[in-house]
Amino acid sequence: MIYTVTFNPAIDYVVQADRLITGSVNRSRSEQIYFGGKGINVSFVLSQLGVTSTALGFTAGFTGKAIEESVSEAGIKTDFVRLEKGCSRINVKIKTDTETELNGQGPDIPDEAIQALYQKLDALADGDILVLAGSVPASLPPDIYEKILARLSHKRIMTAVDASGKLLLNVLKYKPFLIKPNQSEISEMFGVSLSGKEEVVRYGKKLKEMGAENVLVSLAGEGAVLIDEYGRVHDQIACSGEVKNSVGAGDSMLAGFIAGYLKEGYEYALKLGTAAGGATAFSQGLAEKEKIFELLERIL
Ligand SMILES: Nc1ncnc2c1ncn2[C@@H]1O[C@H](COP(=O)(O)OP(=O)(O)OP(=O)(O)O)[C@@H](O)[C@H]1O
Ligand SMILES: [Mg+2]
Repeated sequence: MIYTVTFNPAIDYVVQADRLITGSVNRSRSEQIYFGGKGINVSFVLSQLGVTSTALGFTAGFTGKAIEESVSEAGIKTDFVRLEKGCSRINVKIKTDTETELNGQGPDIPDEAIQALYQKLDALADGDILVLAGSVPASLPPDIYEKILARLSHKRIMTAVDASGKLLLNVLKYKPFLIKPNQSEISEMFGVSLSGKEEVVRYGKKLKEMGAENVLVSLAGEGAVLIDEYGRVHDQIACSGEVKNSVGAGDSMLAGFIAGYLKEGYEYALKLGTAAGGATAFSQGLAEKEKIFELLERIL
């Protein structure tokens, strides 16, 4: 089974308005509601690819219930730890000629809830896959990724970590199966500015030397580079199309890569990941299966 973890799931309330004047009443032209968080995004795109996963993490209040319901409706199994207090957050995204975001903080996560999540993770068995994606909210210990990987290190679990900065660097010693930094995350981790794919490969190899088995560097519209477990370098150009909203492209790529790897190995994984990332960039919400397979056809 594939498990994804979303510590701080959210409802995104996206509003289109002609203008936004602070300090006065504004009216929306249209609005949409999306459910998500990075782990849930990965689960959603996996389900589009016909791969079942279980979404783990923390939910609270009526917003948390709504998130769980929508996740289930998408064909994803849920096993969230329900918090007794607070509400899962709502992020408000106001789109005028510019974009203004007001992101919620989310509920406090008490220690008992963290222990309850650990217990669920203890049930993972050899051969399972665990996806840890996104940042860690302030109410959790900053080393929680490390703690989770340390706890699972005696089992043969394939872990994929999509995080940045210290959060990512600190888990490399646990030899994650896959990491997926983007270009700016690599620049920030090494304090360098990268120019060209050769440089990207150089730092990708460094991350591999530091412990990651596979390093997938995503380069948005420039495609991606994979340094696989054998040290082979695969270079993939991105799909072309009209970009509508690239938020979640990285999560989609991760889902496509995992589904592709399970089916056929690295070459296909990189292509399916690229198609899934592109399909999200070219859609208003997350990638749907028709779009993913249409783009995959073009790449193949
Ligand atoms: N503008 C684009 N055109 C074509 N493909 C894209 C575009 N943006 C993203 N993609 C595809 O999605 C993959 C992942 O995108 P990106 O590098 O932006 O991830 P990311 O920065 O981690 O995104 P996020 O964290 O918002 O999910 C890229 O490697 C590419 O294949
Ligand atoms: Mg990302």
